[in-house]
Amino acid sequence: MSIDLTENSITKAVQCTFDGCHDARTRELFLTLVRHLHDFTREVRLTGEEWFTAMDFLERVGKITTETRQEYVLISDILGVSVLVDLINDQSRPCTTDSTLLGPFYVEGRPTAPNGADISGDVPGMPLFFTGRVVSPAGDPIPGARVDTWHSDGDGHYDVQQAERLHGRLAMRALLTTDEEGRFWYRSIAPRYYPVPTDGPGGEIIRATGRSPMRPEHIHFWFHAEGYDPLITMLFRSDDPYLACDPVFAVRRSLIVDFVQHDPGAAPDGTVVDEPFQTVDWTFTLSPAR
Ligand code: BEZ
Ligand code: FE
Repeated sequence: MSIDLTENSITKAVQCTFDGCHDARTRELFLTLVRHLHDFTREVRLTGEEWFTAMDFLERVGKITTETRQEYVLISDILGVSVLVDLINDQSRPCTTDSTLLGPFYVEGRPTAPNGADISGDVPGMPLFFTGRVVSPAGDPIPGARVDTWHSDGDGHYDVQQAERLHGRLAMRALLTTDEEGRFWYRSIAPRYYPVPTDGPGGEIIRATGRSPMRPEHIHFWFHAEGYDPLITMLFRSDDPYLACDPVFAVRRSLIVDFVQHDPGAAPDGTVVDEPFQTVDWTFTLSPAR
């Protein structure tokens, strides 16, 4: 009965309207959503003004969202929902590399590169040499695995955030392939910590709640190999000051690694570098496809 509803009876009245829903999962999702939404509204004694603020906020999230600016995803990230969904659905096995968020800066049209290539796209910065291995849980090399990697520059900016300066060129990203021993390696520049985009409604949440927008320094990876589950992950720099307060909650202890600092001299690829440089070496373990 939807007449003369009260603060409490309105919840059941709305839930009853889902009785005709034939898909059990859809029904469950709406029943539970309404229960939590109504409980939230009652618990905080939401005012009309606050409700209008929320509607205006959602309108502005919609307006700023484009194919390359995913503000809804960012808000899901900074409220911890993206990682929570990952954690709930995580089917990785104990002996495989942990997965974590994709983030908004992956680009489909990234260039392919041979092992050993300089993927910095001529963006200046401290040289960084990455050497990696991709293996099975038994430690066997996985040859022919496709390895997407992308990262920021030394000021914490991705190529797509400086399209004008780079004349639309993609940089600091590539698609590599592992060799017969499951190895891949490249030269680039050292990344840096950076803020999540704060010039939209997501930034308003960060400021209103007094949070830090800084993501700790990291390099992204996305692996595809025949017979294995794809793996999306990141490696974080072990001495980064923002490790414990990542605004998108993506840091996992198992993904914190040393970015080793070197004086000028011989680099892992056999070249001689006449300035200080960094090296990172890591083995990634993929999960056999289910
Ligand atoms: C990133 O790592 O690129 C990222 C992830 C989530 C939100 C913003 C940035
Ligand atoms: Fe990132």
